[in-house]
Amino acid sequence: MDEIVISGGRKLSGEIAVSGSKNAVLPLMVAGLLTDEKLTLRGTPRLADTRTLANVLRELGAEVEEFGQGPGEGVNVQAADLASTRASYEWVSKMRASFWVLGPILARAHEAQVSLPGGCAIGTRPVDLYLNGLAAMGADINVEGGYVNATAQGGLKGARVDFPFVSVGATHVLMMAASLAKGETVITNAATEPEVVDVGHCLQAMGARIDGLGTRSLTIQGVERLSGADHTVTRDRIEAGAFALAVAATAGDVTLTGIDEAALGALAPAMRLAGVALRDAPDGLQVKGPSGRPQATPITTEPYPGFATDLQAPFMGLMCCADGVTRIRETIFENRFMHVQELARLGADISLEGDTAIVTGVEKLYGAPVMATDLRASVTLVIAGLMAEGETRISRVYHLDRGYERIEEKLSAVGAQIWRQSA
Ligand code: EPZ
Repeated sequence: MDEIVISGGRKLSGEIAVSGSKNAVLPLMVAGLLTDEKLTLRGTPRLADTRTLANVLRELGAEVEEFGQGPGEGVNVQAADLASTRASYEWVSKMRASFWVLGPILARAHEAQVSLPGGCAIGTRPVDLYLNGLAAMGADINVEGGYVNATAQGGLKGARVDFPFVSVGATHVLMMAASLAKGETVITNAATEPEVVDVGHCLQAMGARIDGLGTRSLTIQGVERLSGADHTVTRDRIEAGAFALAVAATAGDVTLTGIDEAALGALAPAMRLAGVALRDAPDGLQVKGPSGRPQATPITTEPYPGFATDLQAPFMGLMCCADGVTRIRETIFENRFMHVQELARLGADISLEGDTAIVTGVEKLYGAPVMATDLRASVTLVIAGLMAEGETRISRVYHLDRGYERIEEKLSAVGAQIWRQSA
């Protein structure tokens, strides 16, 4: 198995191109199942997760083909026929977003059997919102042998779906299902994450009638059929955030091309409070780390537009060496602090009190062998390794490969000493 090795203490400087968003491209590929025509997605990242999802879609009879190189990269999805309505445990267990095929298959074929999902072990992650929403739209659902079996004789019907709290995935799935249902669906407490808006725009280009994108209430008039489309995927604000934090952590000066400050959302004001300079430049966002230690800056994760849970771990990485004590509260997932014990191996001083991590900034971190435990924890260890004195070896890097495209190449190009080797 591969390891990532980092020799810390180098300032990053130069330019990093931000890739297409993982959490947008996954539901966009799923949306390809809603039509028999070709959906072309441009600016897509090449990741282990997109390869896994491609296999799920192929199992259902779709053709999935990557094309192009570098900035011209993309993927075509065409599900001329749904050869199968069953998404098996073998693939769905590898990644939670594969479960999202449930919505399009059910909407298009009026029946679906989809394995319960896997994904990062960051909490229990139930699927009740999906199932209750689809049931409100007339689906008959039972869960047996680890599979969700759903049927909708005569097709799904428009309905009112009141989510008790915000779920990104349930919003994607219900928005897709409602686009091909009969009549009007109103979704309240919808997610407003930029990735949901991106998927909504692509669905609109496919002929869906969706109002209210980016607000907590979506109104969708179902249509008989959707067409293909040609859509460019939004840039990855979570990848961009991790790079911005890596730059800050090394007191570097890097321009992140393809995004602006607004794309960082609530991370931007938190970074400014920590003493990081951010400036929108013609080619992207210039990030300049503080010359001394960053200021301790408390955060609480919340649904968008709040501080993204996917940036909680990387932000904690920066705060390990902050001047002062930082309280970091995680309100979305109940088990998303697995990076804490690995950061401690590098010399961080962090204690946990329920949903809050209390980080007492230390002067320095020191390299050590550490283990990636989930996707966002793994990039946190990269950030910490870049800050640390000496060598950090990160094992289980398959977590990193799920969501960060060529990360060691991108960071080497701006001066980091980071490489991959077979353990
Ligand atoms: C998406 O996951 C993202 N995944 C996650 O990113 C992200 O952390 C999360 O949204 C929150 O922003 C993708 O986009 C592929 P949720 P999702 O449904 O949709 C609970 C990463 O690292 N819930 O918004 O699965 C759930 O357990 C990943 O890239 C239910 O209780 O997240 C959680 O506590 C990790 N019942 C909360 O809602 C349900 O039926 C929010 O989860 C559905 C969700």
